[in-house]
Amino acid sequence: MKAKFTLSRFSAYYGSHRALQQIDLLIPTRRILGIIGPAGSGKTTFLRSLNRLNDLTAGFRRQGEVRLDGEDIYGAEFDPIALRRRVGMLFALPIALPMSIYENVVYGPRMQGINTRSQLDQLVESSLRAAFLWDEVKDRLKSSGLRLSGGQQQRLCLARVLALNPEVILLDEPTSGLDPISTAKIEDALTMLKEQYTIVLVTNNTMQAGRVADATAFFFMGELIEHDETKKIFTNPAQQRTLEYVTGRFG
Ligand SMILES: Nc1ncnc2c1ncn2[C@@H]1O[C@H](COP(=O)(O)OP(=O)(O)OP(=O)(O)O)[C@@H](O)[C@H]1O
Ligand SMILES: [Mg+2]
Repeated sequence: MKAKFTLSRFSAYYGSHRALQQIDLLIPTRRILGIIGPAGSGKTTFLRSLNRLNDLTAGFRRQGEVRLDGEDIYGAEFDPIALRRRVGMLFALPIALPMSIYENVVYGPRMQGINTRSQLDQLVESSLRAAFLWDEVKDRLKSSGLRLSGGQQQRLCLARVLALNPEVILLDEPTSGLDPISTAKIEDALTMLKEQYTIVLVTNNTMQAGRVADATAFFFMGELIEHDETKKIFTNPAQQRTLEYVTGRFG
């Protein structure tokens, strides 16, 4: 299996606090990697380390390597802006831009210089379809994105990420606070999207990793405790702490 990301002895610090401890991990191409673990275990830090979003955080330092297609993303020649274009991110709180549904989707592509009407129209339809939102909004593309429900806004945000045509999609608890139907739509979308994209899904809903992730990594206090095929993690993990966590008996 081809690795999209390769982490080697990767550690992350906020000031003197070590949030990630010497992580070694391969993230395979065109699969979904689920990241689980209790609050404060370093899940978000891990995710933000993959597109260097932590660079902007005061006091952040790191050691070790993260390679994307073999290239060191923290290397001097690697452009962080280009990195974030290749590695898109969806956050927990869906925030549509205060503009139409259509303009929400084409905002990023316009910034990148795409402005042919037919190209933009096509991008809007394909991105909204891939985010499982098209059928719900195709008759009101000119109405405000802010008038959509929370679950629809999250799918609109996913469509915005897709419209930028990334290689990797990072998601940080994308369905926290969403109703079960919207959650299922996001999960269905991710399952389709992994045919084209590498996906890293941080979830505080352990069962969600069980449903959609091909492999799952369990983090605890900044350590990668265990990483394996999802089925193995949920049925027969190697570590006692993993077993306790996935069965809800974590002390
Ligand atoms: N900007 C920051 N400055 C200082 N410490 C931070 C910062 N962000 C996170 N931390 C600390 O790093 C550790 C890991 O935090 P992180 O947000 O990565 O955890 P998490 O697993 O995403 O937790 P949650 O499930 O609550 O989202 C925690 O101890 C946290 O307090
Ligand atoms: Mg987090």
